[in-house]
Amino acid sequence: MVETLDILCVADMCVDLVVAGNVRPQFHQAEQLVDDYSIELGGSANIFVSQFVKLGGRAGVVGWVGQDVFGQFVLEKLHAVGVDTSRVRQHSQLKTGLGIALAEPDDRAILTYPGTIDAVEPFELTGELLPCQHWHIASYFLLNKLRKRWIGWLEQCRERKLTISLDTNWDPENRWEGVMNLLPLIDVFLPNEAEALAISGESDVTRAGEKLSRVGTLVVIKRGREGALAFKKNQCWRLQPDDSEGKAIHIVDSIGAGDNFDAGFIRAWLLGQEVEECLKLACRCAVASLAAAGGIQGQLRENVI
Ligand SMILES: Nc1ncnc2c1ncn2[C@@H]1O[C@H](COP(=O)(O)OP(=O)(O)OP(=O)(O)O)[C@@H](O)[C@H]1O
Ligand SMILES: [Mg+2]
Repeated sequence: MVETLDILCVADMCVDLVVAGNVRPQFHQAEQLVDDYSIELGGSANIFVSQFVKLGGRAGVVGWVGQDVFGQFVLEKLHAVGVDTSRVRQHSQLKTGLGIALAEPDDRAILTYPGTIDAVEPFELTGELLPCQHWHIASYFLLNKLRKRWIGWLEQCRERKLTISLDTNWDPENRWEGVMNLLPLIDVFLPNEAEALAISGESDVTRAGEKLSRVGTLVVIKRGREGALAFKKNQCWRLQPDDSEGKAIHIVDSIGAGDNFDAGFIRAWLLGQEVEECLKLACRCAVASLAAAGGIQGQLRENVI
């Protein structure tokens, strides 16, 4: 019998080429040396499910890779972690998506080649995907083809008693459309502060949290070094990153911090833990991810049950 998964999501399938060094690219044929590079499993959804599985959960992704070296790399990495890849197929025309990130400790510049990132078509979301407990949407704004499909799909998920979470990530078009209409169908919404302000149209993070949570959604706002805030109707929770041991947080790069935060939060939330505990695990996952290159290497390995 097929094992029921805790989580399924559509993957914005890509690899990250992470280049590290205190260097800003210059044209006019200038050659600049960098400190290091690494090739990592990329895509918000892939980073999210990998961390979720390392915390003891069962997760799978739906998506496409190219028939190329990077596609093989993605499949091998997901498989090695234990993510269910049975719903990932090889595309005959598209190349595997690629993100080239130039990382500084607290910031990064990214060049993205979309390729398979946005390859899943609306008709691919069918009832066959529903035997799982929870549906997560990662990179809402990159999955352009699915934009109009989500409301119908999430209603189907709800009918089958799945719970639902959403992390839109940044909108490259800076339009922020469609999210307010989705919120009544979302149990846990996980924007960062800039995204929460842009989507709510507010200029203050507390007002943004209150507005976004008005329909009953648990809204968790990630605030970088300031930690995170959570809102639900009239309640508010605050979490400061833990520096109580007097150790400064070691940051190699911030790639995947938000996705790893999401994975920790949702793992604890699905286990029925209180919001404070969900925030603590989320923050530990984020901080672990900051300490290593890319979104995968630093992930916490801990059986949280
Ligand atoms: N400089 C920092 N110091 C301490 N903790 C941090 C720092 N940056 C990020 N974090 C932790 O990581 C979490 C998520 O980071 P952030 O707010 O950057 O999310 P995000 O913008 O969604 O990330 P991403 O860019 O991966 O999408 C924060 O809530 C915090 O717990
Ligand atoms: Mg994010």
